[in-house]
Amino acid sequence: MMQAGELKETEYPIRCMRVQPTRPVPDIVEDVRNGLLRSPRTLPPKYFYDGHGSRLFDRICETPEYYPTRTEDELLSKHSIDIIAEALPDQIIEIGSGSSRKTRRLFDACEVHTHTCEYAPFDVCEPALSQAATELRSEYEWLYITPLVGDYHAGLGNLPAAEGVRLLVFLGSTIGNFTPEETKEFIDEIKRCMRPGDYFLLGADRVKDTSVLNAAYNDAEGITAEFNLNVLRVLNRELGANFNLQSFSHQAFFNEEFSRIEMYLISEIKQNIHLAKIDTTICLDSGEKILTEISRKFHFSELESMLIDSDLKIVKHFQPANQYFSLVLAQLSAQ
Ligand code: SAH
Ligand code: AVI
Repeated sequence: MMQAGELKETEYPIRCMRVQPTRPVPDIVEDVRNGLLRSPRTLPPKYFYDGHGSRLFDRICETPEYYPTRTEDELLSKHSIDIIAEALPDQIIEIGSGSSRKTRRLFDACEVHTHTCEYAPFDVCEPALSQAATELRSEYEWLYITPLVGDYHAGLGNLPAAEGVRLLVFLGSTIGNFTPEETKEFIDEIKRCMRPGDYFLLGADRVKDTSVLNAAYNDAEGITAEFNLNVLRVLNRELGANFNLQSFSHQAFFNEEFSRIEMYLISEIKQNIHLAKIDTTICLDSGEKILTEISRKFHFSELESMLIDSDLKIVKHFQPANQYFSLVLAQLSAQ
């Protein structure tokens, strides 16, 4: 019997488990030395996602211009019943899960099928994970949740493997933020952590009219610009840097040659930035660019070859009438 003032089981804060890397990944100091201090200047996109950056990303998803979230959510709403009927997963592992908002469609479908499973959301942003897990626990009391914090570039080999069928989920077209080499390595790694009969659900953005793509990364409210600039706030905090966010501007455009959005921060003035923690000064010219993200856009045939090259068989493909987005369910077949 509960006493007054005691917490109900569902009210305890959820603890995130750290996934041990299977290979070393550079820390922020090395990433800055290898990217920001070299030419062309680059930064890995994972540094967008501190608690504030994850909230900004969620706000991007609500802007009228950013169609991927809405489109993928509609596909999931329409087809999750089919996906769950096909896979009947014992464990859903979601990579780069963020707020897990769209994943709720899969849990709703589990309820329709009176099917239960475990859910392991895996993300680099602990505040986002912990908030998502807390909300999900009260919304889906039957769902056993194990939030996992870590870097997906550090390998997937130490993700927990439950008995039965696993469904690995990678939504939001986060695959588009990888270079072609990282993509190949990542899908091979996904395949290595699957057992025959397991499934992989991938959401990926498609090539479309350039004006639609450019608008999606240049929303009128300026949330994407704020999200982009947030990486400088992270460097100020983590490396004792003195970036003045007002002296940088956001630029994003579709590069047709590489079929990708390129997102940059542009230095508006000639300026010196000091990074106290590594006792280094960066001299930026006026107009100098830092590449902060690529977001590749795919033809369906490329998605097909990516999966087939890693021995994954496509069992279902869902797309809207305008072909803006692909939701692909693939399976590792028995050899
Ligand atoms: N899947 C969600 C969130 C997409 S945003 C959706 O579709 O809306 C990309 C997510 O990947 C963020 O939650 C971010 O924190 C996470 N992420 C980015 N880089 C990561 C990394 N290297 N390792 C693990 N998670 C990462
Ligand atoms: C998470 N990722 C797929 C988003 C994208 O569209 O590349 C991140 C983003 N960057 C700007 N807007 C959204």
